[in-house]
Order: sequence, then C-alpha cells, then structure tokens
Amino acid sequence: MNNNKFCRLEGKVAIITGGASGIGAATAKLFVQHGAKVIIADVQDELGQSLCKTLSTNNNNIHYVHCDVTCDSDVKNVVETAVSKHGKLDIMYNNAGISGRTGRSILSSDNDSFKSVFEVNVFGYFLGAKHAAKVMVPAKRGVILFTASVASILGGETSHAYAVSKHAVVGLMKNLCVELGEHGIRVNCISPGGIPTPMLNDALKMNERETEQLLCSVAVLKGTVLEVEDIARAALYLSSDEAKFVSGVNFALDGGYSVTNRSFNSALNALFVNTTTTNHVHQ
Ligand SMILES: NC(=O)c1ccc[n+]([C@@H]2O[C@H](COP(=O)([O-])OP(=O)(O)OC[C@H]3O[C@@H](n4cnc5c(N)ncnc54)[C@H](O)[C@@H]3O)[C@@H](O)[C@H]2O)c1
Repeated sequence: MNNNKFCRLEGKVAIITGGASGIGAATAKLFVQHGAKVIIADVQDELGQSLCKTLSTNNNNIHYVHCDVTCDSDVKNVVETAVSKHGKLDIMYNNAGISGRTGRSILSSDNDSFKSVFEVNVFGYFLGAKHAAKVMVPAKRGVILFTASVASILGGETSHAYAVSKHAVVGLMKNLCVELGEHGIRVNCISPGGIPTPMLNDALKMNERETEQLLCSVAVLKGTVLEVEDIARAALYLSSDEAKFVSGVNFALDGGYSVTNRSFNSALNALFVNTTTTNHVHQ
C-alpha cells in the first residue's frame, strides 16, 4: 500500500507498546501498510522479533525493542531508539496491558496483583506519555494514544484492579489532553469491547472459540464480531492527520455494549418466561 494516496501515515514514526500480540500486533501491521515506521515495544522478544520479520518490507520500516513499560529506563530507551533511528516520534500508542490474577471480589483480591495491574496499565502508560512528551513538546506536534477498555465506562464486569486501572487511563488522557494541547499534541483513548486475544482468553480460562461464543451471546450488535483489526483501524484514524482536531476522546468501540444495562430486560424476560411456563404448567 506504500507510495500511494491511501498511505495515511506516510513519513510518520510510531511506537506501539504491547505490539507483539493482539491489538498491538494488528495495529503494527496496519501502520506499516500505511507507510509508518514502527517500533514494537514489548516483553515477548521472540514473538515481537518474528512479527517484525513478517511485516518488514525494507530494512528500516519496523523494529522490535525489548521494553518493560513499567521500567523508566526501558521506556526512555524505546523513545530514544525511535528518535535515533528516524529523527522524530509522531505517534506513541500505549497499548500494553494485563488483566491480572486478582479475583472479582474485594474479599479475595490479591494486593500484589492489584499493584501489578496498576503498574502496567497505569504507570506504564504514564511513563510512555512522559517520555513521548519530552520529544513531542519541542517538536510542537504528536499523537498520544491509549488502549483503555469498556471497563473504563462500566462497573462490575471485571476485577477492581482492571476496572480502576482503565478508569485511571481515561483520567490520564484527559489531563494530558489539556496540558499538551498547548503544544499541538493530541491525546485520545480507544475503549474496545471484548476480543478473544491471549489476554482475555487467559483471564477467562477459555480458548479463542469459547471466548468468542461468550462475547457473541452478550453483544448488543449482532451479526458481526469485534476483531483486533477494528481497533487497529480506529488507531489508524486517530493517529492520522484526518483526526487533526480530535483530542480528549474516549472512543468506545464496543458495538453499543456500554450504552445499555440489560439487567432490567433480562429480569423482565426471565419473569415473562417463568410466568408463561407456570401458566402453561397450570393449563
Ligand atoms: N482483548 C480484549 O478484550 C480487550 C478489551 C479492552 C481493552 N483491552 C486492552 O487492550 C490492550 C492490548 O491487549 P490485547 O487484548 O491485545 O492482549 P494481548 O495479550 O494480545 O497483548 C498484550 C501485549 O502487552 C504486552 N505486555 C504485557 N505487559 C507488558 C509490559 N510490562 N511491558 C511491555 N509489554 C507488556 C504483552 O506481552 C502482549 O504482547 C490492553 O491494554 C488491554 O487491557 C483488551
């Protein structure tokens, strides 16, 4: 797709954390197709390196850098690598995340697991934004993007650690949007609904098919499923100049899941089913 008018990120330099798998990997692929120079930052070295080999169309369009997003010097290093290789950083996509091992109930929540979810999902994003801002502020341009989640909008569907961490990401995005807007830097979140990636499959202890079936059964929008490529396309738009005035947005990409609370309808339907069943039995 390079060298034609459909290259929406021609000449841009992007870092994608958590880019070795799932949403990050799909985004890396699409960004490369649209002419960006991409650096994948992850802790899964083999996976990240083999993805780079697959996506590389020349020697310079995609690189893998080992980066634990909770480690200040690793994050600093990945930003410095982008600048030393390509002379600038246009897009910082903070996407690496974990669901954690903590249970749903506060009573069984494990303290260390809570802290580790925060460390990756919040502190990791803070470090990504901080080091990216150091090079974007003097350049007076840039895009900082975060993967939040529907868990940033809804309560009660994930662990406390995960829900709180994703709400915090939206708070960080809003604060950064105000501060960095002055320097021409746009900051946004994408909040996906459920997608059967390794993170969600592991959290649910289901295989990809089982996760997908579960997600389909609760989806508001029927007849289609949410895929990592859908998130990649949203990231592409928000990172491109087409979104030049879009900042401070938490973009829910969930087929309408977060606009409703279906518990009233479920209770009503159950009551209706029970009533008709009872009537039927009594006839
Ligand atoms: N899959 C879903 O249903 C879903 C829904 C909403 C939001 N999200 C969010 O999307 C993001 C991407 O997750 P995914 O679903 O693609 O899962 P994934 O497991 O496929 O990818 C997550 C990636 O993050 C990397 N990572 C984890 N900890 C890291 C660290 N400390 N440093 C660097 N990299 C690290 C992993 O190695 C992995 O490659 C996460 O922030 C997640 O919370 C996922």
